Parts: sequence; C-alpha cells; structure tokens
Amino acid sequence: MKRLSSSRTDHNKIFKALEIATIVATSLILAYLAIISIEGLQVLWAPSTQVSEPYTVIKVEAYQFGWRFIYPNGSSSSTLYLEKGKLYRLDITSRDVAHAFFVPELGLKIDAIPGYINTLWVKVDKPGKYTLVCAELCGVGHYAMIVDIIVE
Ligand code: CUA
Repeated sequence: MKRLSSSRTDHNKIFKALEIATIVATSLILAYLAIISIEGLQVLWAPSTQVSEPYTVIKVEAYQFGWRFIYPNGSSSSTLYLEKGKLYRLDITSRDVAHAFFVPELGLKIDAIPGYINTLWVKVDKPGKYTLVCAELCGVGHYAMIVDIIVE
C-alpha cells in the first residue's frame, strides 16, 4: 500500500513536470511567434521607414473611367511612365467612386478609394509594356479602365 502511494506521488511529480514543461514550451513558441509577427507588421504599418534608397512619388488618380498619373514636376499623363530599376511610391486615390489598381504581371493590387491615399512601392527591373486594369466594378465604363505602364 505504501509502495503504491509512493509510485502515485512519483507519477504526480512527473505529470506536474510535464505540465510545467508544456506551459513553458508553449509560452516560448507564442513569444517567438509574437516577435516575428511584430517585425512583419512593422514593415506593413510603416513602409517608408524601411526604405533606405531614394524614390520618386507619383500620384495616381482613378476616375470614371480612366487613370491620371501626376509626376513630381507637375506634369501628368494617362499612361504611366517608369524608369527601369528605379524605386517609386505610388500614392493612389480616386476622384469619385471605389476603383482598384491592378497590374497582374507585376503582382500589384490595391484599392483606389475617394478620400484615402493607398501606397504601393514599385520597382520594375525588366523594361517593357505592362497593363494596368481596374479591378473593382465601378460603373458602365469599368471595362475601359485599361491603360499601359511603359517601363524604359
Ligand atoms: Cu474603375 Cu472599375
């Protein structure tokens, strides 16, 4: 009887130790996940703080039914012109209803919303002609919101 009781105590100690080990291991895993998540989220929350090279800002205005690109010198165009290998920040908004800036070949997609500026960072190394489409049903001319992006 005494023996059984002592064995039971040993089992309890082992279970207690396992329980504590599980809690500690789980806490460490969660702490690790929290740290790497915060690092990742900081990149999303504050992209400008991560940019160490010079860049050019181009304002992008979506409207029913087209796109307007406004360059730092004040000039504008309905085709987007970029220099290859150069970093750009596109500040994207809309004059009227919700549109969406979508360049499938470059993996770029973000909403264009009136009253808000959504930012996309772009650097294209391969010269050529890319296609920008609107990816948000925005009215009868939605299908016509297709323009070129020329990278030279
Ligand atoms: Cu703009 Cu669809």
